Amino acid sequence: MSSTSYRIAALAGDGIGPEVMREAIRVLRAAEKKFEFAVEITEAPVGWAGIDAAGKALPDATLKLCRHADAILFGSVGLPQRDPALPKEQRPERAALLRLRKEFDLFANLRPVKLPKCLSHVCPLRPERQGEGIDILVVRELTAGLYFGPKSTEEVVDLKEAAPKPHRFRRATDTMVITTKEIERIAHVAFQNACLRRRKVTSIDKANILENGVLWREVVTHVHGDYPEVALEHMFVDNGAMQLLLRPSQFDVMLCENTFGDILSDEAAALGGSLGLLPSASLGKTRASGTFGLYEPAGGTAPDIAGKNIANPIAQILSAALLLRHSFKLEQAATAIEAAVEQVMAAGHRTADIYSPDEKRARKVSTTEMGSAIAASV
Ligand code: IPM
Ligand code: MG
Repeated sequence: MSSTSYRIAALAGDGIGPEVMREAIRVLRAAEKKFEFAVEITEAPVGWAGIDAAGKALPDATLKLCRHADAILFGSVGLPQRDPALPKEQRPERAALLRLRKEFDLFANLRPVKLPKCLSHVCPLRPERQGEGIDILVVRELTAGLYFGPKSTEEVVDLKEAAPKPHRFRRATDTMVITTKEIERIAHVAFQNACLRRRKVTSIDKANILENGVLWREVVTHVHGDYPEVALEHMFVDNGAMQLLLRPSQFDVMLCENTFGDILSDEAAALGGSLGLLPSASLGKTRASGTFGLYEPAGGTAPDIAGKNIANPIAQILSAALLLRHSFKLEQAATAIEAAVEQVMAAGHRTADIYSPDEKRARKVSTTEMGSAIAASV
């Protein structure tokens, strides 16, 4: 038995968060037993659960727990029905999720999309378009750009169009700001990951029109000098969105600015079968002991299916695998969880989002059944 005990802060949040988190913890416990490591998992409220428990989307006690943890396993936050009741700054997405990303400087967001062979029928692309398979790592910058640049909403009075009375309207501004330092560090992450994969980086920007796109391209090209073994290609974001649909197999690592990465990772996730399958790792600086990170499914709270035991827990479970790999360097355990997911899917277990009655060997299962099957397989 290893002497280290790793501390995980588990923040399930809202909507389907608690249901899928329960399954991820079940799988973590199975891996813990099998691979003889020890994790201390402490749950705390976040999002609307935080507001209901302590008046804030990120309660002080939850933040404190995160500061003392080695990694955060995050569910999802925000409830479109309730969010409008709050000022924007207090809504869960901003006050909890973006706050945590900024607080811990989690600048590198990794979103691995892989279409399992057995799910090629749920991919929206015809088999011939799927090419030799879809296996893409989206590397998304997570702490700069439109999300964190200066914002404002103000009242404007246009006197030129004054007659018969001043023309008033409101103006909202978000600013896409990025520095060379921020581009450099995310570019290194992309190239380093490409070295572990098929050695190709496609850098996504809008350099034909945006200043920060020009800077992005220049800095990424410069960083590429350190990685001669990796091929670098630049692509405008609009073309990137199209190429994903036309020939997704051309992509290995897609390196994206924050907003572009948000959009393209959802698009890529759909190609991978379902948003319910896409995990993510949000990482800060690398330390010898492993990297502090926040791990979360890329999908949202899905309030329409919450509480029905039908949500797909796989994105949350694979996020837990990424946690073991990146924060605790437990590669074997991480791989075992990923293999268990593949095995259970190959055996025909399907939650509603990936179920199709045409598939002969498929069996529709609940959230708990999927989680239990994966835990048993580990
Ligand atoms: C994601 C989500 C978040 C984002 C939202 C919930 C703020 O869409 O993680 O992709 O835009 O980053
Ligand atoms: Mg998103």
